[in-house]
Amino acid sequence: MERNEESKTVYIPVSPCGGSGLVAPIAEQIESGSACGKAIIVGEHAVVYGAKAVAIPVHSMQISLQIRKRHGLILKPRVRMYLAGAPVSEHLRGIVDDAAELLGIKLDALDFHGTSTVLIGAGLGSSAAICVVVLKTLAEFYGIGLTAPEVAYMSTDLERRFHGNPSGLDTAVVSYEKVVSFQKGTTPSPIKITCPKSASESADGKWRFVILDSGLRSSTIEMIEQAAPWFNSEAKEERIQMFNELADEVTQGFGTGDTKLVADAMNKANVLLDKAGIVPDKIKGIIESAKACGALGAKITGAGGGGCVLALLDSDSADATLTKLKQEFGAARVNEVTLL
Ligand code: MEV
Repeated sequence: MERNEESKTVYIPVSPCGGSGLVAPIAEQIESGSACGKAIIVGEHAVVYGAKAVAIPVHSMQISLQIRKRHGLILKPRVRMYLAGAPVSEHLRGIVDDAAELLGIKLDALDFHGTSTVLIGAGLGSSAAICVVVLKTLAEFYGIGLTAPEVAYMSTDLERRFHGNPSGLDTAVVSYEKVVSFQKGTTPSPIKITCPKSASESADGKWRFVILDSGLRSSTIEMIEQAAPWFNSEAKEERIQMFNELADEVTQGFGTGDTKLVADAMNKANVLLDKAGIVPDKIKGIIESAKACGALGAKITGAGGGGCVLALLDSDSADATLTKLKQEFGAARVNEVTLL
């Protein structure tokens, strides 16, 4: 999170009702922060049952937040929260109380103003990002320093407000802002990333992914319920093992610059997630089209039931594939994500 601390001197009436008209200087307390989106390469759903998963930060999507202390006559509620200028629901505002409890602080009268470019309900970590940004910015406001593991741990607790029993994967990658390997109940491990091997001199040495928005939205908690029978079957151990192997392949592929290994693992993960019942036909169509445009690998990302497709591009033909994808889906539905 980028921190941007401001401390300005403003002059306000001593009496909230105007009264004598006297003015006194007050140091205005403001704290700003942001948190990124995320995309899961492998292991969504399986991670809830103990499998390893790998996810990447999506820095091009951000939730930004500003906290400002209110002065003068304080009317209820003491904490007000707005997203894009509109008041949020009581349920969402409750994150601030939960965060204050975790941090052991008594809240002043505060206004929270947020804006977001993270697509909501699209599998890109909007609920993790809001939990992380509220926790980090509130901690900064009260002068409490938190490490990335602490933010990851505490924001997973906050995310329960949105989907019951989160694995901690989303808050891990959003807190670390790095590619992480993660297993429920353990500390996230940032993983080594090596430039993709390439046959072409013109390749830019980056891992190039795209997020393709289906326009369909879903609820994480409902999708977890939908996938649960497939995971909680007699074949559970075997299924978790298959996801573990795919996560190992992704880690190895990132570490050695082997795009084909990562792409193959993504393709195989999508087959398993389809069996778990969370890949709608519209997403299957987008995956096929992405591959026809030249993507090496493509899969649903996040909770499923809609949301987005994550595709990995071949380093040697990424520009041409990106152009085709934009023609096929429209530029507004294609978000490029690069690593390195
Ligand atoms: C949602 O982004 C990822 C899930 O695996 C849920 C979780 O890990 O808590 C579906």
